[in-house]
Amino acid sequence: MPQEVLTEAAAEMVDWHGSGMSVMEMSHRGKEFISIYEQAQLDLRELLAVPDNFKILFMQGGGLAENAIVPLNLSSRRLSADATGSADFVVTGSWSQKSQQEARKYCSVNIAASNETDGRTSLPDPASWQLTPGASYVHICSNETIDGVEYHTLPDLRSLGSEAPLVVDCSSHVASRPVNWSHVGLAFAGAQKNLGPAGLTLVVVREDLLGHAMSVCPSAFNYKTVADNQSMFNTPPTYAIYIAGLVFQWLKRQGGIPVMEARNQAKATLLYNAIDHSQLYFNKVASSCRSRMNVPFFLRDESLNDAFLAGARAHGLLQLKGHKSVGGMRASIYNAMPIEGVQALVNYLHEFEKRRS
Ligand SMILES: Cc1ncc(COP(=O)(O)O)c(C=O)c1O
Repeated sequence: MPQEVLTEAAAEMVDWHGSGMSVMEMSHRGKEFISIYEQAQLDLRELLAVPDNFKILFMQGGGLAENAIVPLNLSSRRLSADATGSADFVVTGSWSQKSQQEARKYCSVNIAASNETDGRTSLPDPASWQLTPGASYVHICSNETIDGVEYHTLPDLRSLGSEAPLVVDCSSHVASRPVNWSHVGLAFAGAQKNLGPAGLTLVVVREDLLGHAMSVCPSAFNYKTVADNQSMFNTPPTYAIYIAGLVFQWLKRQGGIPVMEARNQAKATLLYNAIDHSQLYFNKVASSCRSRMNVPFFLRDESLNDAFLAGARAHGLLQLKGHKSVGGMRASIYNAMPIEGVQALVNYLHEFEKRRS
């Protein structure tokens, strides 16, 4: 979270803009909250340059719930609401792997491509994807948070001869770079990396994909129902929407998404350069698809891991332990992390290596 946003939220927590209420105490149908909601929608549409034929939905359930909600809404879209459809998945890391597993409960799944054989360190060339004719959609995770693999451009399915909409799990790099919406049918993101607190899930969906849900789809997760009710079919996560709205305004004050992209590029380059030029640390991901948000790295001598983490903590450098499924270290350098924070990590990397050599 940007420090400025936390300070602002703290100052108005008890009494929002003289309303005599905390945002947490407002009715979601009252004029105060509606103004917060509408501003957040407008700001996000402007920031991400979301075209008019896409709806912005503020939902709940996080990225993992979307792994079920997407097939419940899209997999039967060319069939009857009780029929079982099919979807293609490109599996490039832990999160797309989870997505395809969950989708199997609702539709038949084809793995169009995978990077498993190279240890999740590259992205399969879209020209090599085995797409299924007639698949309801094609799912990718555009930034694999655990493995540190990121698409730097979104694939154009039409140029691959497919009419299927592209579904993108962009949970961990949303708002870090511009989006080419002409390649996207639906994008979803849990808020908790770049948008605000956990509890809010962003869905941006092309209008023609609404209204095709399976009959078993829960009403609160039916995209058309959510869209028709301006994300208020059920009570939305009001406080999380409010904080996300403050983050959107902060992003606008920074200069918008192109400025964030340039900053994120500079931060990632600084850190990858330090890792690549050291004798102690290494990163396994091909340089063409290294994540700008999540930088996993390993110590060549793993017996130093605990000492590395303890020293980092002493320098105020927190949460550097890699995900338990891959080990090693991981620096998550989301939008709110200033370049000074990355520089502090780089200084520590140098210092720790020097001490050990
Ligand atoms: C890319 C990606 N997808 C999905 C998820 C799961 O999100 P949630 O925990 O909000 O369900 C995460 C969480 O880190 C993620 O990074």
